[in-house]
Amino acid sequence: MDILVQPLNRVIRATPGANLLDALRAAQIPMSYSCLSGRCGICRCRVLDGEVLDGGREQQRPLDGMDGAVLACQTYVTEACTIEVPAPEEAVVHRARVARASVVAIEPLAADIRRLLLKVANPIAFSPGQYAQIALTPQHSRPYCMANLPGDDLLEFHVQLMPKGRVSSYIAEQLKVGDKVKVSGPLGAAYLRQQNAGPMLCVAGGTGLAPVLSVVRGAVAAGMRNPIHLYLGLRSPRDLYGLAWLDHLRSTHPALKVHVVMASGADPATQRRGLVTQAIEQDHTHLRGWSAYLCGSPPMVETTTLLALGKGMEAAHIHAEAFYMQGD
Ligand SMILES: Cc1cc2nc3c(=O)[nH]c(=O)nc-3n(C[C@H](O)[C@H](O)[C@H](O)COP(=O)(O)OP(=O)(O)OC[C@H]3O[C@@H](n4cnc5c(N)ncnc54)[C@H](O)[C@@H]3O)c2cc1C
Ligand code: FES
Repeated sequence: MDILVQPLNRVIRATPGANLLDALRAAQIPMSYSCLSGRCGICRCRVLDGEVLDGGREQQRPLDGMDGAVLACQTYVTEACTIEVPAPEEAVVHRARVARASVVAIEPLAADIRRLLLKVANPIAFSPGQYAQIALTPQHSRPYCMANLPGDDLLEFHVQLMPKGRVSSYIAEQLKVGDKVKVSGPLGAAYLRQQNAGPMLCVAGGTGLAPVLSVVRGAVAAGMRNPIHLYLGLRSPRDLYGLAWLDHLRSTHPALKVHVVMASGADPATQRRGLVTQAIEQDHTHLRGWSAYLCGSPPMVETTTLLALGKGMEAAHIHAEAFYMQGD
């Protein structure tokens, strides 16, 4: 006998044991999906009522703070249930795939940051803010976020060189122009929501600027008029890069305000001293009706998420990509 599954305000039928994402797609409920393997987190939804068989946690980050959150592609329906799906008008589907690419440039952006440009033989469709897994060799593979826009000729990544970091050191010391690499993606759920007309809080820690640039570039390209407050949090002037790109964006989108916040060594004429959370705390009494894009180190993403929630932002409007270290 079929099971009744209620997504949105509809009731759909599914056979016991059916995959939740398959059931939603079969009923033409708009759902984002990409990897179909529990890696990218984009098919996240909530079980409000009833039990499901949760076949797997997100591998890269926890299902942070969302009660009843499951990945639809890893979930099987076992009894009648009510499901909350993310805003259907914002669903994106770019089927993740593996593409061959060649290295076009490796350029310094700051003392310990490199810009990596790749030419993909068969371009990958993605939404601004997403990331890809880059395999430089079978032993050197890590996720990095696109800084460019979909449809651009080259994929652009900003890589922070970590002390003794295996893959970032390989990029700095061994990777050469012309080398062949593999790019798998797109992945990630912190992509630009174009339907949201409210103010946007974009917070980048270090190379978190890459996805934030893509999001802001995407908003400008889409003709969005939302006020945007972009906070760039850095440890010191040594990490500063991207100001020319930000100036250009400001000239095309006057409602963009850029705040460079440095833990130490800030130039008081143009920069602020401290942490991004302190700057946001000072600038905004509330964030009700705002949406957020938070990208960079996990502690920065976590503290900014808590701050945004405390100031009234809805959890569903907080889109975060924390750069968790992978190991091996
Ligand atoms: C979704 C996602 C998107 C990302 N996007 C970006 C991006 O756009 N730009 C970017 O720069 N990064 C990004 N990252 C981070 C990136 O994937 C790598 O984690 C980062 O480049 C470090 O990799 P690595 O191999 O150089 O360092 P690793 O070898 O993984 O080491 C990381 C750090 O840990 C230290 N370490 C390693 N092993 C040990 C140990 N046993 N004990 C103590 N310390 C140790 C190393 O010294 C190093 O400092 C992203 C991560 C995720 C999950
Ligand atoms: S499509 Fe479900 S986690 Fe990627």
